[in-house]
Amino acid sequence: MPPPEENLHAGTQGAWSGRFAEPVDERVKRYTASVGFDRRLAAFDIAGSLAHARMLAGAGILSAEDLAAIERGMATIREEIASGRFAWSLDAEDVHLNIERRLTALAGDAGKRLHTARSRNDQVATDVRLYLRAAIDEILALLRALQRALVDLAERHAGTVMPGFTHLQVAQPVTFGHHLLAYYEMLERDAGRLADCRRRANRLPLGAAALAGTSFPIDRERVARELGFDGVCENSLDAVSDRDFAIEFAAAAAILMVHLSRFSEELILWMTPAFGFVRLPDRYTTGSSIMPQKKNPDVPELARGKAGRVIGHLMGLLTLMKGQPLAYNKDNQEDKEPLFDTVDTLLDTLAIFAEMVPGIEADERAMRAATEAGYATATDLADYLVRKGMPFRDAHETVARAVRAAEGLGVGLAELPLAELAAFSPLIGEDVFAVLSPEGSVASRTSRGGTAPAEVRKAVARARAALAAAEAGR
Ligand code: ARG
Repeated sequence: MPPPEENLHAGTQGAWSGRFAEPVDERVKRYTASVGFDRRLAAFDIAGSLAHARMLAGAGILSAEDLAAIERGMATIREEIASGRFAWSLDAEDVHLNIERRLTALAGDAGKRLHTARSRNDQVATDVRLYLRAAIDEILALLRALQRALVDLAERHAGTVMPGFTHLQVAQPVTFGHHLLAYYEMLERDAGRLADCRRRANRLPLGAAALAGTSFPIDRERVARELGFDGVCENSLDAVSDRDFAIEFAAAAAILMVHLSRFSEELILWMTPAFGFVRLPDRYTTGSSIMPQKKNPDVPELARGKAGRVIGHLMGLLTLMKGQPLAYNKDNQEDKEPLFDTVDTLLDTLAIFAEMVPGIEADERAMRAATEAGYATATDLADYLVRKGMPFRDAHETVARAVRAAEGLGVGLAELPLAELAAFSPLIGEDVFAVLSPEGSVASRTSRGGTAPAEVRKAVARARAALAAAEAGR
């Protein structure tokens, strides 16, 4: 048995106070303490400690009585924390020392023995990975819910025509369903990135101890199994010092937020009366205190804004890591707030979007009118001429002249009489009107991944199958 940590209990001092001639400065104590925010790791800290204690007992490093006392103590602490009765103390610096101190008060020497073959360095790395793993699972569930909402709405609008844009200029007709499924695809890749990040994060640092490993005959694989890790971190220096899993998560989170921000931007545009393509349920909008006519799309606007803070957290975490020599440095304590805030922001944003999307109401007439006003079927007319034998470049030029004429008359291409259209090319016949309608245009875009309603319905079916598989795999 190693000697117990003598000073753990020493009044207002920390776990290492025996070596120090004076207590830590009050301001320094506040500056260095993390208990204000890392207490949210408590449940994971306890789970990690219990797995560690059981392994120590299994290896004969801890007695069965000590293990029992630790388990009893931890059950009490869990209860105290859950009921809000736990007395968190700044003096104990962080979540780990708070729990250990309370355990020692409850379990005596057994509590002091828990930290054998362990350091807060491998302890905190373990806690954060456990936390992140659980957070990713929650995030993925909400992300799937949002995907389902998008797919449902896409199915309802598989044939709803709207303008597709490039350069924010009307380009070609698309269907609203197709447009929505573009976001389904982005979120699908986001889900893949998060699952990937989870896989790499799901390795056990515990057993690395402070940095070099330990002289005790520990069984890291056993701890890994008990905590549901896929394996152990192979190198002790790496295990305690790198936070790349947090950076990776923040990167995946930032990309996800960028996707939601683009969607938000579109909702905001579509809601301006100038577009008038969609309405959001009133509960997702707010009024103006001065302009009575307004309905402000606050939810999408905030999501667009919150993308900024998540991107900021990614930059913060990268910068936090970049200058650190191996192994653990206190800098790493700064990983938590950005990580927690990123998780909170994602959970909130995904939850609200998953609820809001089913309420999106499309104004099909406004979408169609915008499609026609923008000469969106000009490419279709060019393709029509090509099918009748005209080289594409000539067709492009011919249609450009027709659009110019229509624009001069203030009408759509389909509103020009056949005789006038035929004046631009003798190849134009009665059948031209089928391709000039937005419905005809989208119906013809049957290439795989194209906007034809039939293709959109196939994509909906594929997405549903993928979502069901993802559900079953979890
Ligand atoms: N609160 C610390 C953190 O968040 C725990 C690890 C402290 N380790 C140490 N050697 N001071 O990183």
